[in-house]
Amino acid sequence: PTNKTFTMIKPDAVADGHSGAIIKMIEEAGFRIVALKKTQLTAERAGQFYAVHAERPFYESLCTYMSSGPIIPIILEKENAVADFRTLIGATNPDNADEGTIRKLFAKSMQANAIHGSDSDENAQIEGSFFFGNVEQF
Ligand code: CMP
Repeated sequence: PTNKTFTMIKPDAVADGHSGAIIKMIEEAGFRIVALKKTQLTAERAGQFYAVHAERPFYESLCTYMSSGPIIPIILEKENAVADFRTLIGATNPDNADEGTIRKLFAKSMQANAIHGSDSDENAQIEGSFFFGNVEQF
């Protein structure tokens, strides 16, 4: 049985022209694109998306960064989607990311780490619905 995960190519990776290479890696790893668009968050909406981190010292900086330019949110489908996608992107801190992972290749820093991946099935559903309507999540 397949399930879904949610990802977002972050402003640094989009601005640097890496979105095509990143999407190619995602498809070659066996993920099917369910929904995809290019959009931009306001700092306020970035704050809503990352509300779970509201008390963290990096929260304000994260919201400024995540609203600094266009992003590409994507809903993906695959067997074992959440865990397999986190393996594909690598550790949050690119210094700790395995060779060949998306963050190892494209992340610039702990914050500007190129891509987001949901950490649970429940959050994948919540995060996908933050960007896409029901009819788009087929
Ligand atoms: P992400 O996986 O999208 O989830 C939260 C984001 O906050 C994370 O990727 C980074 O972009 C950012 N982040 C997490 N930890 C730190 C940190 N220690 N310093 C700065 N930014 C961080």
